[in-house]
Amino acid sequence: MNRRESIASVPGKIILFGEHFVVYGNPAILMAVDLRLDVFVKVIQNSNKIYIRSDDKKNVADLINFELKNGKLSFFDPIMFTCKMIFKQRMIQDMGLDIKIKSAIPNGIGLGSSGAVSVATTAAISSLFKKTNKKNVYIDAMETEKLIHKYSSGADCLISTVGGLVYYIKDQKYKKINYKDNLSFLIIDTGIKHSTKKMVQKVKRFSEKENMQFLQIKKVAYDICNEAMKKIQKSDEVEIGRLMKENHKLLKQIGVTNKAIERIIKISDKAGVFGSKLTGAGGGGSVISLVPSDEKKRIERIIKKQGYDVFPVRIDNNGLVFKKIDSL
Ligand code: PMV
Repeated sequence: MNRRESIASVPGKIILFGEHFVVYGNPAILMAVDLRLDVFVKVIQNSNKIYIRSDDKKNVADLINFELKNGKLSFFDPIMFTCKMIFKQRMIQDMGLDIKIKSAIPNGIGLGSSGAVSVATTAAISSLFKKTNKKNVYIDAMETEKLIHKYSSGADCLISTVGGLVYYIKDQKYKKINYKDNLSFLIIDTGIKHSTKKMVQKVKRFSEKENMQFLQIKKVAYDICNEAMKKIQKSDEVEIGRLMKENHKLLKQIGVTNKAIERIIKISDKAGVFGSKLTGAGGGGSVISLVPSDEKKRIERIIKKQGYDVFPVRIDNNGLVFKKIDSL
């Protein structure tokens, strides 16, 4: 039985360890955070129009005429692509959709907003037609994510789908990490939006030009990630902080940090964090700092005073949630 409307909700994410190297088969440690994105979908009968509204953008287009063009993707292209893919799978015709996206995940700063849109849109649209599950949603969302950057490790879509704290290797089974205490992180926005695609291409060029050096750095990143997993299980904040600093040095060596990131790391260190590093693709985006829980407010204030947006986050254990599915 087809449905009339549905709502899917997903969390954003931070990468605690292993970004970039995860594209080349290394493990990464991912954490879903309690900044969520919701997608509301309503069926419009006997129409081919797809209406998309996000917080500050809107678009209406005919699904039948939709084709991806070469070159830069618009915000709406991946969503239209998702609609087309699901309609084709389910052999749906003469149906339009009204899609509304409401997000607390800032975009372009390494918090997984594009992966979150892909997962939540896929989930909301596919649940209109028949029961679906997290695994199928992830597989379909990855098709859309690969449009955004074709070497995607799948990390963002995975963590938005399953939530929690995860040890992840591309194309393999992921492991949920058991942790004792909730670690306290601050996310600090450099104010500079980055393009994940460009940063991944930059690292690819480095890995080709400086292959031996890249392989050595990648090996160190591998060891840091595995060590960090043990320390997280023990909630050893001092050691986790130290390993974050070590991980950041490697990201510096492959050329994905910049002045703004380094400045924030310095300010955070001075304020008394356990450790900081860039998170996600780098070249702007965000810095994460692990802070003592009882010092969170004080450190947040110091960093804000320097003019930065700060998001105090906690882990989100729910991942993808199908909030509402209404029958016709
Ligand atoms: O898009 P971001 O900033 O969340 O970064 C994605 C993480 C990378 O490791 C750089 C790319 C990937 O596909 O894993």
